[in-house]
Amino acid sequence: METIKTGLLGFGTVGQSTFAVLQRNQGEISRRAGRGIEIKRIAVRDNNKARAVLGETDAVLLDTDAEALVCDPTLDIVIETIGGTTIARELVLRALANRKHVVTANKALLAVHGAEIFAMAHKHGVMVAFEAAVAGGIPIIKILREGLSANRIQWIVGIINGTTNFILSEMREHGIDFETALERAQRLGYAEADPTMDIQGIDAAHKIALMSALAFGAPVQFDSAYIEGIKGLAPLDIQYAEELGYRIKLLGITRRVADRIELRVHPTLIPTQHLLANVEGAMNAVVVQGDTVGSTLYYGKGAGGEPTASAVVADLIDVTRLHTADQSQRVPPLAFQPDQLSNLAI
Ligand code: NAP
Ligand code: HSE
Repeated sequence: METIKTGLLGFGTVGQSTFAVLQRNQGEISRRAGRGIEIKRIAVRDNNKARAVLGETDAVLLDTDAEALVCDPTLDIVIETIGGTTIARELVLRALANRKHVVTANKALLAVHGAEIFAMAHKHGVMVAFEAAVAGGIPIIKILREGLSANRIQWIVGIINGTTNFILSEMREHGIDFETALERAQRLGYAEADPTMDIQGIDAAHKIALMSALAFGAPVQFDSAYIEGIKGLAPLDIQYAEELGYRIKLLGITRRVADRIELRVHPTLIPTQHLLANVEGAMNAVVVQGDTVGSTLYYGKGAGGEPTASAVVADLIDVTRLHTADQSQRVPPLAFQPDQLSNLAI
């Protein structure tokens, strides 16, 4: 069977790792997808940058014309790894209007413009897949949508920002200051292009808002979240907490309270013997409480190129399978269906 043709928007940490994983594991990937997955073109901002992951013959894939990519009639899927809520929004909407499925790692985009994007996908009969947008390599979107679909979800609590967890771990374990720890996180490719999104808790709020919408079948309500980051924390706070038997973690929390939803992100004192207190570095952990299954815990790398590419490529495989299948086999849907949302408010 012919390969499925994709275009990649952005070729930074996530984009390059996605390209590398598709090449390295192409045998397994095409077997699982039912056909090969080919990146036909890549759009970047600056085409003079060196791209270590590209072989000599691949350099022709790159150009700076993202507009042309999302309109390219030969592409079936657009992979968005640019980030942000401006140019990415325009390109994703354009791709969907051109009837291309979209795979994105961009939680900010979906938390802020999800309603518009999912409605556009619905209108044009295409899919938006976003496993990589929440908790890096942990397949938490699949868990919420499929694995726990028999449950009435009661609450979700998670360490869902690798950068801040890495900073808190480095400050505690090595006694280094906040700025040094942040520079390390940036060098390792964990931080957002604008790291204030991580530090102020906004990135975690984007992610908990998406999980909350999936778990409770409500519209994404990022705007209503209570958000407090870690910028105000000093090494002494971390040290005193430790002396009292607690560790400080930035948690994202959402829960059902009667007919409303609670949605918050803030630093939290956790007893040092608790599992979540021992999630260190850029690792993430998410606890989901369902009425049927009880408490379940998911743990893994929450940031960085390869773990995120693991989720992007998993989505590509899913979308390829569903694209190839008959329309009637497209369950469960990969996008929120606007007509299935309840009116639960925060
Ligand atoms: P990044 O390293 O900064 O890469 C961004 C890429 O987008 C760069 O290649 C840049 O091009 C390109 N770009 C920017 N503006 C563009 C434009 N107007 N047209 C075409 N290309 C443009 O970012 P990243 O860390 O890979 O993150 C990408 C997305 O994945 C974000 O939404 C982020 O939140 C999400 N994410 C990241 C991680 C992670 O650990 N890094 C994990 C999960 C999700 P140049 O290279 O030419 O500058
Ligand atoms: N900046 C994000 C983090 C990337 O540190 O968790 C993964 O979403």
